Amino acid sequence: MIIYEHMQLKDCEHAAELEDEIFGKDAWSVGDFEESLCCDYAIYVVARDTGSDRLVACAGVRNMCGDGDITNVLVDRDHREQGIAEHLLRYLMDEGRAIGIRNFTLEARKSNIPAISLYEKLGFVSEGIRPGFYDNPKEDAIIFWKREKKDV
Ligand SMILES: CC(C)(COP(=O)(O)OP(=O)(O)OC[C@H]1O[C@@H](n2cnc3c(N)ncnc32)[C@H](O)[C@@H]1OP(=O)(O)O)[C@@H](O)C(=O)NCCC(=O)NCCS
Repeated sequence: MIIYEHMQLKDCEHAAELEDEIFGKDAWSVGDFEESLCCDYAIYVVARDTGSDRLVACAGVRNMCGDGDITNVLVDRDHREQGIAEHLLRYLMDEGRAIGIRNFTLEARKSNIPAISLYEKLGFVSEGIRPGFYDNPKEDAIIFWKREKKDV
């Protein structure tokens, strides 16, 4: 069974391993995750396989005056296309709203069709391009926002 919960210090090593497998040179280290877990303006969540007690996905958000910057969205290769990222991001945004985040933003490589489709399914809208944002290989980023709907 897959459960969704806040990341714990014991998860940092495995989260960094997953990052390394997926993002290579741009991967976060164990220390990066440990540091982020100590910030009171950030929330990191994971999907965990209760059978193996292994982390299979993670994502985080940092609150900057009501705007939440989402990073570190990844799912282990063996667990993709099962709805885990969608469920995890919905959970992350619910937790983010509980600490006052109203608008969410994130970036994706222009060529990352799975991520772009996921974000659009969740209601994110492209608001611009950040030229050459990514390295290894160099690529533009699409900037997405999901803004709180205001009653008029
Ligand atoms: C992008 C990623 C997080 C998606 O995770 P996932 O758990 O497989 O996604 P889900 O199963 O929750 O899919 C939800 C939606 O995302 C989209 N999606 C997911 N995988 C897709 C694929 N291979 N091709 C096209 N769309 C895809 C679909 O819209 C899907 O909805 P649907 O099932 O109704 O078609 C995963 O592929 C991943 O970890 N990639 C490597 C890391 C990465 O690129 N992270 C994002 C950095 S910006």
